[in-house]
Formats: sequence, C-alpha cells, structure tokens
Amino acid sequence: MANLLDLQQRAAQGEKLAVLTCYDASFARLLADAALDIILVGDSLGMVIQGQRSTLPVTLDDMAYHTRAVARGAPDTFIIADLPFGSYQASPEQAFNAASVLMAAGAHCVKLEGGAVMATSVAFLSQRGIPVCGHLGLLPQSVNALGGYKVQGKTDSAAQQLISDAQLLTASGAAMIVLEAIPAPLAKQLTSTINIPTIGIGAGVDCNGQVLVLHDMLGMGKPPRFSHNFLQDSNSLQAAVAAYINAVKTSTFPSEQHSFK
Ligand code: KIV
Repeated sequence: MANLLDLQQRAAQGEKLAVLTCYDASFARLLADAALDIILVGDSLGMVIQGQRSTLPVTLDDMAYHTRAVARGAPDTFIIADLPFGSYQASPEQAFNAASVLMAAGAHCVKLEGGAVMATSVAFLSQRGIPVCGHLGLLPQSVNALGGYKVQGKTDSAAQQLISDAQLLTASGAAMIVLEAIPAPLAKQLTSTINIPTIGIGAGVDCNGQVLVLHDMLGMGKPPRFSHNFLQDSNSLQAAVAAYINAVKTSTFPSEQHSFK
C-alpha cells in the first residue's frame, strides 16, 4: 500500500494523484483493483447515498460506517475520511475525538474544511499522529454562509486569503489540501507556494492530483460542470475508472471546459 510519504513524494516528483470518492465495499474493491491512488470517503455521501440536500446532516456514525465498509473492500488503498459537519469545528479536542473514530474505522487520514480557523486543530491532530487533509475554496459544509455552491477566490483579496490559508495549513502540519471550485490560475499559483500535494476538484489541471465524486464521474444525477462522465465512452465500470485514472495521470483531465478562469 502506498503510504502518505510515498504519495507526497510521488506528487513532489510530478506524478499526478488520482482520487475518487467511495462509500461501499464493492466499489472500493473495484477502485483498488484499478490501482487508484487514494479513496476519499466523502461526506458527499449525504447527497449521493442518503439523498440529502447537502452534506450537513451527515453524522460521525454515518462516516464511520461507510469508512469501515470501504476499508474492508480496499484494505491496501490509502483512505481519507471526511470529518462531518459539527464533529470538529468546536475545538481541537473535539476534532481529535472525532478523527480517532474515523481512524479506528480504517481511515489513514481525515479531511476537514476551512482555512486559518482550522490551523490549531490541524496542528493538534497531526502532532498526535493523525494525518490531516485540508479543504479550501468551496466548502460544502459552509454552503449556507457562502450563499450556495459558488466558485470561490475570484477577487484579489479572496485569492490572497486562500493562498495564506493554504500556507498556514501547511505550516500547521497538513498532509495535503483539497482545492474545490477555484480559478485554475489561482490553484496553480497556490500549488507552487506550498510543499504538500494539492488535490483539485474544479480547480484546473495544475494541482498535484484530482478528485471527483464517483457517482458524478459515472454520469449519475446532474454532475457539476467541472466533472466528466467517464462511463459514456467506456463499456464497463472498470474501464471508466481506468480512463479516469489515465486522464488524471496524463493531465488530459481536467480540460478548460472543466475549469474556471
Ligand atoms: O465529500 C466529498 O465528496 C468531497 C469532495 C467534493 C472533495 O469533499
């Protein structure tokens, strides 16, 4: 199994990391067989599995349940699990308690949303042996404060804030950072200023890796503009996942049509 240091090293050497969300053992097995680099047990399961309108109702129990299922299906794949809304924002201690549940469920890293306000918690967890993936840009758990699922970092001051957030999370010990729905040139600039991998979703081709929601890349529902249906030109689920991994590794995904200016 590739561990965190292997993944960080491969990204530093220029290899693009291919990441997909996953919520159950059968798909986890399929993704592991395809040699996907990282599985994200995303709280997007609130929408794609539970049929909720947002990620906010997802509980820590839900996340632990799905993390256990994924870990059983892909015991040799690096797994990141999302800390759900309300399980970590109150204090570093609350974050540690929630993160330890997900680590015990089989995660190798936890992801939390937010910039400077999360720096203390990132340091608290990483100093206690829990790798943390940050999440900047469009923060789905803050959809009510953001006024919808909108591209972030469009003004100079918002862009500068994102770069300083990324630098602070890095200095606090973050292992990698997901960048969601930000202009591609900003993601490129931000990526060049930190020494941990950035994983983009709607953030252009110059991140160190890419992540998509599994159901979106299989063309289910109404995928966002930055996603692509990899099943439409493939004759099996396995071929669709292989096509996605190949497109990420060769930087043919995302193209400009999947990116924001
Ligand atoms: O929950 C999720 O699927 C995510 C991705 C959007 C990165 O956090």
